[in-house]
Amino acid sequence: MTTETTARELFASLAGREPDGIWSAPGRVNLIGEHTDYNEGFVLPFAIPHRTVAAVGLRTDGLGRVSVASTFAEEPVEVALDELDRLFPTPAGAQPAVPEWAAYPLGVAWALQDAGATGSGVDIAIASDVPVGAGLSSSAAIEGAAASALNDLWNADLDRTALARIGRRAENEAVGAPTGIMDQMASMIGGVDTAIFLDCRTLEAQQVPLAVAEAGLAILVMDTRVKHAHSTGGYGERRAACERGAAIMGVPSLRDVSVDDLTRAQELMDDVTFRRVRHVITENQRVLDTVAVLRSEGPRAIGDLLVASHASMRDDFEISVPELDTAVEAALAAGALGARMTGGGFGGAAIALIEADAEAAVSAAVEAAFAAAGHAAPALFTVTPSAGARRDA
Ligand code: GLA
Repeated sequence: MTTETTARELFASLAGREPDGIWSAPGRVNLIGEHTDYNEGFVLPFAIPHRTVAAVGLRTDGLGRVSVASTFAEEPVEVALDELDRLFPTPAGAQPAVPEWAAYPLGVAWALQDAGATGSGVDIAIASDVPVGAGLSSSAAIEGAAASALNDLWNADLDRTALARIGRRAENEAVGAPTGIMDQMASMIGGVDTAIFLDCRTLEAQQVPLAVAEAGLAILVMDTRVKHAHSTGGYGERRAACERGAAIMGVPSLRDVSVDDLTRAQELMDDVTFRRVRHVITENQRVLDTVAVLRSEGPRAIGDLLVASHASMRDDFEISVPELDTAVEAALAAGALGARMTGGGFGGAAIALIEADAEAAVSAAVEAAFAAAGHAAPALFTVTPSAGARRDA
């Protein structure tokens, strides 16, 4: 059964009628540029074929209520539209007032209303094939699908960047995860065969052709199945360290610090803060270098940048876990041109840039390395850059 069929069936059981339309939005892989987005730096993600599908319809009973159902949960959640601004924002450190899965679409409805959108009651049924907790932005995919649907049905006429901001608000203020804008932008504006080179300060985006298949290559996702969550713990701590570092340097954000400033930064900061800062500064530079190399030489030449990015996250930012390191090392030992963890870290997935005809061999090597290290088996699959959020029907 396709994800769309699942969403349609769920909608029928929720609302007892046909939806007005079907909208979908993808997960993402970040090629390079990690923990740079909330530092107003650079990222280079692309949308993946895995999508969240929302079957959505305006209510026919005249009630100003929004109900959401999801394959993630047994029970739908229903609230009045005029209740949303009593439910959100979720106070810092608290659990959302609704089950967490429902805080994504309801947070989107709340943020849209807060941005001035108005509309009648609505039923939303959500199904997804984006792996959850894998660092592939299953949450941005929900936000993107819900925001696209409500934008159309409520005639809000917001552009894709504005909808990405709506999704981020849901994530930050309804769910309570202090993330940046990368995932929502990648999901909203991703395109076939291209990565999105995004300046997270201006939100100016350029499409950079990846041409991975033309070069005889493929991108292998290695999902460690170690679940992570960004609403708790390490992610927020890293973000706080970056803010501390920027304050010490006397700048609004680490975007304003360059590789040339690192000596001075080291003199001013404690070791941990300095290493967090060094990751962000060098990672920004690696994104710029990757874009330049992709444009001049193509994807075969970016492997070393991916490897350097992983080392920086492992040693300076300290967000890798043994399973991610095992995946990266095993893929490289089996001939991958480059490999790195992708996403927020503390679990989730790594990616490897491999020869297209080496998928079976690299996969077998990664599986063997996981077994030898005593890790649970990873999930391995290739991805190609795919379309962003859209209306499907
Ligand atoms: C998560 C967040 C993003 C970004 C990455 C790390 O995916 O949602 O905003 O900060 O981590 O690059």
